[in-house]
Amino acid sequence: MNQMTPPPKIEIIPWNAPFSDAQRSWLNGFFAGLLSTNGAAPVSAEQGAAVLHGPTGEGDDGQAPWHDQTIPIADRMKLAEGRPLRKRMMAAMAQQDCGQCGYNCNDYSEAIASRAEARLNLCVPGGKETARMLKALHEELEKAPTPSPGAALSASVAVPAAAVQPGRSRDNPVAATFVSRCLLNKTGSQKETWHIDFDLNGCGLDYVVGDSFGIFARNELGLVDQIIALLGASHTIEVNGKTLREALTDDVSLSPAPDSLFELLSFITGGAKREKARALAQGDDPDGDAETLDVMAALQKFSGVRPHPEAFVEALEPLQPRLYSISSSHNATPGKLSLTVDCVRYVVGKRKRLGLASTFLAERIHPGDQVKVYVQKADGFALPQDPATPIIMIGPGTGIAPFRAFLLDRKATGAPGKNRLFFGHQRSDCDFFYAEELKAMKASGLLTRLSLAWSRDGDKKFYVQDRMREVGREVWTWLAEGACLYVCGDAKRMAKDVERALVDIVAQFGARTTDEAVLFVGELKKKGRFQQDVY
Ligand SMILES: Cc1cc2nc3c(=O)[nH]c(=O)nc-3n(C[C@H](O)[C@H](O)[C@H](O)COP(=O)(O)OP(=O)(O)OC[C@H]3O[C@@H](n4cnc5c(N)ncnc54)[C@H](O)[C@@H]3O)c2cc1C
Ligand SMILES: NC(=O)c1ccc[n+]([C@@H]2O[C@H](COP(=O)([O-])OP(=O)(O)OC[C@H]3O[C@@H](n4cnc5c(N)ncnc54)[C@H](OP(=O)(O)O)[C@@H]3O)[C@@H](O)[C@H]2O)c1
Repeated sequence: MNQMTPPPKIEIIPWNAPFSDAQRSWLNGFFAGLLSTNGAAPVSAEQGAAVLHGPTGEGDDGQAPWHDQTIPIADRMKLAEGRPLRKRMMAAMAQQDCGQCGYNCNDYSEAIASRAEARLNLCVPGGKETARMLKALHEELEKAPTPSPGAALSASVAVPAAAVQPGRSRDNPVAATFVSRCLLNKTGSQKETWHIDFDLNGCGLDYVVGDSFGIFARNELGLVDQIIALLGASHTIEVNGKTLREALTDDVSLSPAPDSLFELLSFITGGAKREKARALAQGDDPDGDAETLDVMAALQKFSGVRPHPEAFVEALEPLQPRLYSISSSHNATPGKLSLTVDCVRYVVGKRKRLGLASTFLAERIHPGDQVKVYVQKADGFALPQDPATPIIMIGPGTGIAPFRAFLLDRKATGAPGKNRLFFGHQRSDCDFFYAEELKAMKASGLLTRLSLAWSRDGDKKFYVQDRMREVGREVWTWLAEGACLYVCGDAKRMAKDVERALVDIVAQFGARTTDEAVLFVGELKKKGRFQQDVY
């Protein structure tokens, strides 16, 4: 295992005080900040990132200590206790600011609370937990008096400029042409990651590096037909002006079975089955298998209970688009757009499960096919304005995607700034994405430094942050020269671990205490010199 030294913690809150770990950690950071800065703002990096500039008052101090994707929802809700409804709604979001809902977490909750957004099921990483919590909080909203027209709860609600421009939001997709796919892993790899190319010439879309691409995928026909068979229906029966087969392929999610499906099943059956379906609809897990129940598994569990196709489709969630970091540069290859997509496949029991969009891109579309897409503008993830600014990019796995785009863009525009990439993956001989291209960039001088970390080449895991620590002095020198730092990839573990390594590097080579290093990294974030695109 990776031998990481966690930053020493300042413990001010007694261990036995009645707080969760997350609350205690936040309070320790808060008081440490007060003590070390004579009453100035709190200091931890999380807090740096968590300060909101929305309205304060009504129990809202403008902070969002729950804004950390690694804190479980129960702890996030505790941290938000006593805050206004819109802030508790924000705490219910998955805190990734991933943009899949079309907003960031704060703006999505503000939009719901101000009644500008009626959809409560848009937070993809939050899944059912978030949707359930939002539903409960929304009931409070429904009881509250309706604000007079124009009197929005908050001036900072950023309802997406949506719909206005075609192809610029999930609410107004356009059709792009799928061109080709190419496997990036070599024989022996345990991964299946595809380089995907689209042609944008037909739809006229453009983008800047750092943006993501939204894809509306279609469900796999085999799965659709098995579900139709379980319903005992004909696939040509009409539902909402389409055949049942079309509706199930194009319009609804067949992944986690929603509470509303269990509700429907409970209405049309009786006895123990009815009790079980009702329990599942309420978020209980009577048989310990709730996590594994996609739509088909739910129908199989309640075999013989056959909802009417129309009611069935109505009980399902709409199909959500998926976002992918763009791995090409419009400046380098106008009209062309590339993605780097890790294929999600896994087995539950005896059944193979397919990630919707990744397998759609990997095997269900063919060159020349039209796909519904949109460009999701990056929220604070972009090349520095000054092309001479050095950049440090940290992107293991598919995290390399936007950094390939950054490098291609800097090459196309002749940006003179130095470029440093930390890339890592499982094995050097089969998981080195874009190896030839990166080596050529290094040989040409575009890529000033390329640091690699292979987690499964040796006996012990070795990650990008371990490589960063090894060259910590250089990382510090680049930062001292004004470099911007970027992280892309896994949100749950990697991004946090990389940030911790950065704090250690700043402390060690920048001759700072850990608290000062945390403050330094927080300042980098506030100044836009430390940006993240994590999922
Ligand atoms: C801003 C942003 C940028 C992104 N960029 C990229 C990118 O560049 N490249 C990339 O590949 N992805 C990227 N993603 C992730 C991408 O959007 C999708 O989430 C991912 O491809 C999976 O989608 P899917 O539809 O294939 O799978 P889904 O149908 O959404 O299924 C995924 C879900 O399946 C379940 N699951 C997965 N594996 C297992 C398992 N072993 N056991 C049990 N359950 C499991 C989990 O619940 C998981 O959430 C990005 C996401 C965001 C928000
Ligand atoms: N079950 C799932 O749902 C599942 C499975 C895989 C990936 N994902 C997600 O799918 C996305 C794409 O994955 P990906 O293909 O880009 O690659 P990835 O699975 O994130 O792995 C890329 C590299 O990062 C390493 N890594 C693992 N933990 C790390 C950590 N804490 N710090 C630094 N590096 C770490 C991996 O090593 P090791 O794997 O050798 O530890 C691997 O070498 C990510 O969001 C990932 O979280 C989900």
